[in-house]
Amino acid sequence: MKRIVFMLIAAVILACGVVFTNPAAGRANEKAAPTYGIKLPPGYRDWKLISVAHEEGQLNDIRAILGNNIAIKAYRDERLPFPDGTIIARLAWRYVPSEENNRVFGRPQSFLAGPPTNVQLMVKDSKKYAATDGWGDAQFEDGKPDDTALLKTCFPCHEPVKARDFVFTRYAR
Ligand code: HEC
Repeated sequence: MKRIVFMLIAAVILACGVVFTNPAAGRANEKAAPTYGIKLPPGYRDWKLISVAHEEGQLNDIRAILGNNIAIKAYRDERLPFPDGTIIARLAWRYVPSEENNRVFGRPQSFLAGPPTNVQLMVKDSKKYAATDGWGDAQFEDGKPDDTALLKTCFPCHEPVKARDFVFTRYAR
């Protein structure tokens, strides 16, 4: 009986198309971005930290640069170029003051991650993305991929760091 109930529940879940995802693990399996056909990889939110960065001006964000296991190993081994399978993810959030923290400090000095802005990905596949020196690019806002025009800007702007395989971020020790 228990088994039948379980199977019924499972069937209902499948029929409803419900997919269980852990929001803490980051959104995944969304639509693929254009040009390079990249999707948000499952579990990217749990990847290891390469470094952090803060942009002022119009962007005014705070960002974490994360890598999958292949990326992290390459960084730690100081291996260049990055091997196929490397994925580097750049997650960004609005850079906002924290009134809560400032009350504790007694002066305005605390800033932290506000609402998320977008996620950028660099994916290494030397065959598939041979035309762009092995790198495919993608950007997602709220899990939705950004368009082709934007993706045209990625690779040329990373050109100045060609000697580091087009990757700006250094590993923060
Ligand atoms: C105006 C130049 C410019 C453009 C356009 C640009 N980038 Fe970058 N990108 C940078 C710089 C500079 C950094 C390092 C600074 C930082 O992390 O904020 C960076 C960092 C990154 C990182 C972290 C790894 C690294 O190289 O440091 C990723 C991933 C990334 N960009 C992907 C993209 C994608 C995808 C696009 C296109 C949608 C894109 N970038 C467009 C300049 C650019």
